[in-house]
Amino acid sequence: TDVNLSGFPHYMLKEIYEQPESLENAMRGRLSDEDATAVFGGLNLSAQDLRRINRVILTACGTSWHAALVGEYLLEELARLPVEVEYASELRYRNPPVENGTLLFAITQSGETADTLAALREMKRKGHPTLAICNVVGSTIAQEANGGVYLHAGPEVGVASTKAYTSQVVTLTMLSLYFGRLRHLSFEAGTRIIGQLRALPQLIRETLHCHDEVKRIAEKYAHASNFLYLGRQYNFPTALEGALKLKEISYIHAEGYPAAEMKHGPIALVDEHTPSVFIMPQGPVYDKVMSNLEEIKARGGPVIAIAARGDSEVARLADDVIYVPEVTEMLSPLVNIVPLQLLAYHIALHRGCDVDKPRNLAKSVTVE
Ligand code: G6P
Repeated sequence: TDVNLSGFPHYMLKEIYEQPESLENAMRGRLSDEDATAVFGGLNLSAQDLRRINRVILTACGTSWHAALVGEYLLEELARLPVEVEYASELRYRNPPVENGTLLFAITQSGETADTLAALREMKRKGHPTLAICNVVGSTIAQEANGGVYLHAGPEVGVASTKAYTSQVVTLTMLSLYFGRLRHLSFEAGTRIIGQLRALPQLIRETLHCHDEVKRIAEKYAHASNFLYLGRQYNFPTALEGALKLKEISYIHAEGYPAAEMKHGPIALVDEHTPSVFIMPQGPVYDKVMSNLEEIKARGGPVIAIAARGDSEVARLADDVIYVPEVTEMLSPLVNIVPLQLLAYHIALHRGCDVDKPRNLAKSVTVE
């Protein structure tokens, strides 16, 4: 037995269960009630410099790229900044017109991903300020960026990223709060967001109570060959990340899609053997997602829904429901990804896959 596993059968499960704590560590010392904002020690840019930023590019690979997509919604909503999310492997070879006042964030667990490093160097060469959102202290990207924020998630051993992802998302939330408060976001709004962030670790702890239910559902669907993951707005990236987790460790083909977009193609895949996972928190797009769900049911597709506790409507339509605590939509990707991590984990176990070391994948891709 491996002492580092602290009794868990796999690193992936251990790291899923560490999330209440890793989120606390990401937030420790970074929330200021006095100024209703977030504080960061290592940005190496003055508030004055940062106020001059009028556009943000978020670049990353893999799961970190999904965190960037959530960051796009957050920065646009809280800081009203125009944001672009770019695959690092694409950004490095493009020559996009980038105006002055553009800030690059490189998001990376390892800080060593070759494409992310190359994209960062390319933007630096062109004179743009660069910041890293990184887990590994002293890594190449952490050193080469002008400044940045460490996740403090602790070592992530499982190849499929779990706790680093939620730490990236919570860090992007704090950065959005910070940029918002440098601009137009009110003291009151800042205070409200801080309260919601502080409540988060306990909500993730409660979310983990879905484990037994997820395990049961995983056994029911473990033999499927295709899965669809569907969500909208803040949870469109959750759909992408849920599908990626399943692909990575169970080798089942899975596609994440914006829920409404599925009628432009993926719906052709729907039959009684193809489950769809719907992410449907309470919020402004709930009814829209529900009507997308009805379309899948009408075509005989099994539906697994991730819904807020107390939602009785969804239980009448979905075949299986995984209930999670209700939370404001902006923070719901952090809660909703937890059952999807567990779902991928149990489906992979059921199929006899090596969850911590999936075939063909590396924890950190240091070649192009
Ligand atoms: C590899 C890993 C993924 C990770 C991606 C980016 O593909 O298997 O889990 O999301 O690299 O890694 P980074 O360290 O830059 O976040």
